Amino acid sequence: MARSSTLSSPTVVALFAAALLFLLHPLNAELTADFYAKTCPDVSSIVQTVIHEALQYDPRITASLLRLHFHDCFVQGCDGSVLLDNSPTIKSEKDAAPNFNSARGFGVVDKIKAAIESTCPETVSCADILALAANASVYLSGGPYWTVLLGRRDSLTANQGLANTSIPSPFESYANLTSKFYVLGLDITDLVTLSGAHTFGRAHCKSFTPRLYNFTKNGGPDPTLSPWYLTALQKLCPPNFNPKVITDLDPTTPNLFDNHYYSNLQKNDGLFETDQELYSTAGAATVPIVNSFSADQSAFFKSFTRSIVNMGNISPLTGSNGEIRCNCRKVNKS
Ligand code: HEM
Ligand SMILES: *[C@@H]1O[C@H](CO)[C@@H](O)[C@H](O)[C@H]1NC(C)=O
Ligand SMILES: *[C@@H]1O[C@H](CO)[C@@H](O)[C@H](O)[C@H]1NC(C)=O
Ligand SMILES: *[C@@H]1O[C@H](CO)[C@@H](O)[C@H](O)[C@H]1NC(C)=O
Ligand SMILES: *[C@@H]1O[C@H](CO)[C@@H](O)[C@H](O)[C@H]1NC(C)=O
Repeated sequence: MARSSTLSSPTVVALFAAALLFLLHPLNAELTADFYAKTCPDVSSIVQTVIHEALQYDPRITASLLRLHFHDCFVQGCDGSVLLDNSPTIKSEKDAAPNFNSARGFGVVDKIKAAIESTCPETVSCADILALAANASVYLSGGPYWTVLLGRRDSLTANQGLANTSIPSPFESYANLTSKFYVLGLDITDLVTLSGAHTFGRAHCKSFTPRLYNFTKNGGPDPTLSPWYLTALQKLCPPNFNPKVITDLDPTTPNLFDNHYYSNLQKNDGLFETDQELYSTAGAATVPIVNSFSADQSAFFKSFTRSIVNMGNISPLTGSNGEIRCNCRKVNKS
């Protein structure tokens, strides 16, 4: 029968329609700057007001909120998955290695969400709140602001296993680090630029102590760590360090979003292996980028506004996918 070797006309029509729909409505549905212009026009000022209040008692909150946007986007896209608590159906990303006893700011996200819900109920996603909070946080800490693209929806799932593997560890090799960004569509410029977020915030001893003791396997510390910084970090974090101790990511201007991250790297004062690798890996393509951002803060800021938008575009849920959560900690039907 002819039908087995040729396509029936209804099939051809269906394929054509599907192709047309695909062209008109790409899978990678676009986020837009004016997504809430009609439905929640004050969303930006609400976000900014809550964060500004929180800053009065927690000078670190802006750094913590920016990091949440990163940890959200690197695990199944920017979909609010990092905010879900454990439940019978959710294995929380909060218990994944990069987040456990480390990710913070969830209470402030709850406050932002509650303030928004009271003005525009069931309208603004938790994933968009993290993107908006990143913009407000960087700006309130002295950095740039950017055109935040919006329209993300919230996931019905979390992926703890993916959080363990997708989010780079501070001990990652240069090759692994670049590849973990590359698979998400982020290039070397994005890597160097976004790492500049380590210009503020705090870290625990466990994130860098392997550099301090027997790093070389014949007793020596990481040779790309400056002598004064090594001594200071060893004093703060002895081999049997207190797991609660924290230190500044940027020893020069700990709470400011500026370009000192890059000048620190040039002085061998990067805190994590993954920071210092960007400058100390011989011949790496990242080295000239570090140098240019160290020399020119406005070049860093300009690049940051591009790279943070690139990160925010990682596979969002849009249209009728996912949902607008009422409470960022749980899916609606649970
Ligand atoms: C390039 C790979 C990255 C690695 C390996 C990395 C690793 C880390 C680690 C280990 C900490 C400290 C955790 C602790 O000890 O509790 C940290 C903190 C932080 N990270 Fe990253 N990070 C990376 C990229 C990024 C990006 C892309 C951003 C945002 C755009 C970011 C923003 C931050 C901030 C702001 C903090 C301080 C958070 C706070 O004080 O609460 N990081 N990062
Ligand atoms: C980004 O931050 C700037 C500075 O606070 C603010 O004027 C702007 O409204 C923010 N954008 C959005 C979309 O929230
Ligand atoms: C993720 O890592 C944490 C901490 O190492 C571990 O307890 C947890 O079982 C891991 N989760 C998955 C799903 O692999
Ligand atoms: C790099 O990635 C490989 C493959 O995932 C892994 O086995 C290795 O431990 C990673 N290296 C570092 C230094 O993290
Ligand atoms: C350093 O590590 C190596 C390899 O793990 C080990 O053989 C050596 O005994 C260690 N040296 C010191 C001083 O701890």
